[in-house]
Amino acid sequence: MGQTHARSYESIKNASLVAVCDMNGEAAKALAEKYGIKAYDSVAELLAECDFDVADICTPTFTHLDLIKQVAAAKKHVVCEKPLAISVAEAEEAVRVCKENDVVLFTAHVLRWFPEFAAITRAVRSGSLGDIVTVRTTRGGGYPSSASTWFGDFSRSGGVILDLIVHDFDWLRDTLGDVKSVYARGLVDKGYEKMDYALVTLNFKSGAIGHVEGSWMRPGGFVAGVKVCGTKGMIEHNNVRATSVRICKKEGNSVMTPNPAVYTPYRKELKSFIDALEAGIDPAVKPEDALAAVKIACAAIESVKTGKVVEVK
Ligand SMILES: NC(=O)c1ccc[n+]([C@@H]2O[C@H](COP(=O)([O-])OP(=O)(O)OC[C@H]3O[C@@H](n4cnc5c(N)ncnc54)[C@H](O)[C@@H]3O)[C@@H](O)[C@H]2O)c1
Repeated sequence: MGQTHARSYESIKNASLVAVCDMNGEAAKALAEKYGIKAYDSVAELLAECDFDVADICTPTFTHLDLIKQVAAAKKHVVCEKPLAISVAEAEEAVRVCKENDVVLFTAHVLRWFPEFAAITRAVRSGSLGDIVTVRTTRGGGYPSSASTWFGDFSRSGGVILDLIVHDFDWLRDTLGDVKSVYARGLVDKGYEKMDYALVTLNFKSGAIGHVEGSWMRPGGFVAGVKVCGTKGMIEHNNVRATSVRICKKEGNSVMTPNPAVYTPYRKELKSFIDALEAGIDPAVKPEDALAAVKIACAAIESVKTGKVVEVK
C-alpha cells in the first residue's frame, strides 16, 4: 500500500513526497530511488532529519498505533491505512493522541471513492430508493499474500473481519447510518490454515438489516458486490458483471455507468484529504468514523467467538 499511496501522491499537485521509511531498508531504498526522495529505515531518524507536514502510515495494522503516536508527537498530520488499529482500545488511543497533539487524523477507507459505491451512496441519499430496508455486501478473494506473514496472524491483522470487511462497515455506516448490534458467524479460532470467512448480520439504528460477507478462501479472483433494497427500488453492483450499477424499480430496470475514473480511488481519497487539510476543514473520513468501523468489526469478532448478538457501543 505504501507503493500505491506514493504513486497517488505523484499526481497530486498540492502535495509532494519528501521521504519514505520502511524497516526493510531495501524496500525503502527501492521506492526512494523511483521517486527521487530520501530513504530511511527508522521513523525516529526520519522525524529528526526531515521537514514535512503529513505522515502516511501504510504498515501492518498491529503497528498503526505505535507509529501514529510517534508522528503525532512530532506534530505531523496523519494518514493511516484501514483499519485504524488492531482493537477498539488502540483505535480510541489513536484518536485521543491525535486530538491531544492537535493534528488531523484521516483513515484511508477507500471504498467511499470507488465510483460504483459512491454512486450507490448518492442514490440512497437522494431518496429515490425510498426507505432502505436491507443491504447485502460480499467481498473476497484468495488468502492475502504479503512480503511478511502478518495477515495470517489474527492478533496482528484481525483476520477477514477487521482487515477486509471493515471496508464495507465504513461504507455502510457512511451510507446507511449507525449500527446498533451485530450477529456473526465465521472461522475465527477454527484453526483452518490460509482460509478465513465471515458472515455478519448488522442491525442498523434505522431498522435496516445488513448481511456482510467476507472471504479469504475464494479462488478465481477478487469479487466485490453490493445490493441495496428500499421501499421504492433496488440498486446493485458487482465488480465481475458487465453492467456496472443496476437499478430495479416497479416501473422498470435501468443501468448506470459512473463516469470512467481518470484517477484511482486511492488517488481520489488522498487528494480529498490534502484538499481538506489545506482548506482547514474536516476530512471526509473523520476519526470517529474510523473508530466506529473498528467497533463494528470488533463486535462482529466477539459475536463469532461467543455466538451471541453483540451491541455496538
Ligand atoms: N485500502 C486497501 O485497499 C488496502 C489493501 C491492502 C492492505 N491495506 C492495509 O494497508 C496496511 C499495509 O498493508 P500491506 O498489504 O501494504 O502490508 P505489507 O506487509 O505488504 O507491507 C508493509 C510494509 O511495512 C513495513 N513495516 C512494517 N512495520 C514497520 C514499521 N514499524 N516501521 C516501518 N516500516 C514497517 C514492512 O517492511 C513492509 O514493507 C495494512 O493496515 C492493511 O490492512 C489496505
